[in-house]
Amino acid sequence: MDPQGKLVRIQKLGMLEAGSPSLSRAVLSQSPGRRASSSTTRPNVDASSQTPAAFRTLRWCMMLVMQLLKSAVRHAGSRPQCGVERLISSSSHHHRISASGRTHPSSCTDADHPKVLITGGLGQLGVGLAKLLRRRFGKNNVILSDIKKPPTDVYLNGPFIFSDILDYKNLREIVVNNNISWLVHYSAVLSAVGESNVALAKEVNITGLHNILDIATEHGLRVFVPSTIGAFGPSSPKDPTPDLCVQRPRTIYGVSKVHAELMGEYYHHRYGLDFRCLRYPGIISADSQPGGGTTDYAVQIFHAAVKTGCFECNLRSDTRLPMMYIDDCLRATLEILEAPADTLISRTYNINAMSFTPHSLTQEIQKVLPDLKVTYNVDPVRQAIADGWPMALEDSAARRDWGWKHEYDLPELVQTMLTHINTGNQVAQAY
Ligand SMILES: NC(=O)c1ccc[n+]([C@@H]2O[C@H](COP(=O)([O-])OP(=O)(O)OC[C@H]3O[C@@H](n4cnc5c(N)ncnc54)[C@H](O)[C@@H]3O)[C@@H](O)[C@H]2O)c1
Repeated sequence: MDPQGKLVRIQKLGMLEAGSPSLSRAVLSQSPGRRASSSTTRPNVDASSQTPAAFRTLRWCMMLVMQLLKSAVRHAGSRPQCGVERLISSSSHHHRISASGRTHPSSCTDADHPKVLITGGLGQLGVGLAKLLRRRFGKNNVILSDIKKPPTDVYLNGPFIFSDILDYKNLREIVVNNNISWLVHYSAVLSAVGESNVALAKEVNITGLHNILDIATEHGLRVFVPSTIGAFGPSSPKDPTPDLCVQRPRTIYGVSKVHAELMGEYYHHRYGLDFRCLRYPGIISADSQPGGGTTDYAVQIFHAAVKTGCFECNLRSDTRLPMMYIDDCLRATLEILEAPADTLISRTYNINAMSFTPHSLTQEIQKVLPDLKVTYNVDPVRQAIADGWPMALEDSAARRDWGWKHEYDLPELVQTMLTHINTGNQVAQAY
């Protein structure tokens, strides 16, 4: 924040706090402009000898402003919430920003903290990541964006902005006007949806990625793009799949993600772009719905188990795939974003946590909910996709280079998911 802007804001806050019109007049009279004009309209006499009471008020006001200034300077180093931000956020719960102007008065930019933009932020992963990054960097330093209207709680909980990644000019405006330094690129059309709309998947996953890489290069941003187990194909080694191996996926989603990995690495070597990429397994979360991927069943089964006690699975019972609880996935994302550049031997890493089949997941859930009934009605499109994917990822490079370590295995995952969904239901029933 520029010191001039901060001074004016602190003065205004001081006035509001004191609630005194005479105080605001006194403070404003300290600005150079006001001093100059008053000196032209008044005779040049010693004010203290003429009006001692007014002079005392003026002096008292100046002392108050000085104290406020000192306190703001003291708090300036203590991110994520500086003193000014605390004062403002208590009076105005949230603020909106626009692509065309900096209308976020409560932001308290600090050179030590990145200003992050998350694209496609209203999907399964974006809101959770925003929560994590906001805890770390301050609420106003993380902007969620998407082409959908956010639910009220998301709208109220921090900066949200409309951004279509296919609109290059709009994207550039957002990056420039909000002084973005990190870009997390979550917008995508996932595997199952992609197969039913290849043209859309090409547009969003390939053209959209080109826009992101060009914007990031143009403005010197650090950019994170997630890849997936779907970037491997039937000819890749399956159990475990190493970081470097044959990648010949048979879905447009997979092809577009291999393209993203290669383009990001090419921009890194060619232009010095700070590109970072993790290959996520299937991600499991309780409070956000999956967006049309092949591993969606592993989220849906928990909700069905709690709500109806029965579930129809669209993959074969023995389909073994790599999976991860959302907290591990988001923490890995923050960790690779923060990793010093010289620790990253590679720019694209596998991360792994657990692998299971629909059958082994059912058995683990039945330890808590023994009445759960699972039937199978295999979707040939999803099954063909899953059959070409890894069973487990080999992630020793991530563990070695930047200290990746998962925390959730299958038993912890099941316990955590059922606890969250049960708690959510109890809350819903209370209304
Ligand atoms: N969820 C998983 O299991 C998983 C696994 C591996 C990789 N990933 C990757 O992680 C990222 C986030 O995944 P997710 O599960 O949250 O996806 P999601 O499908 O739930 O959300 C994607 C979001 O992108 C938005 N979007 C679509 N077109 C857009 C456009 N033109 N401009 C801006 N936004 C647009 C959608 O509105 C949606 O909110 C994706 O890149 C995905 O490929 C996810």
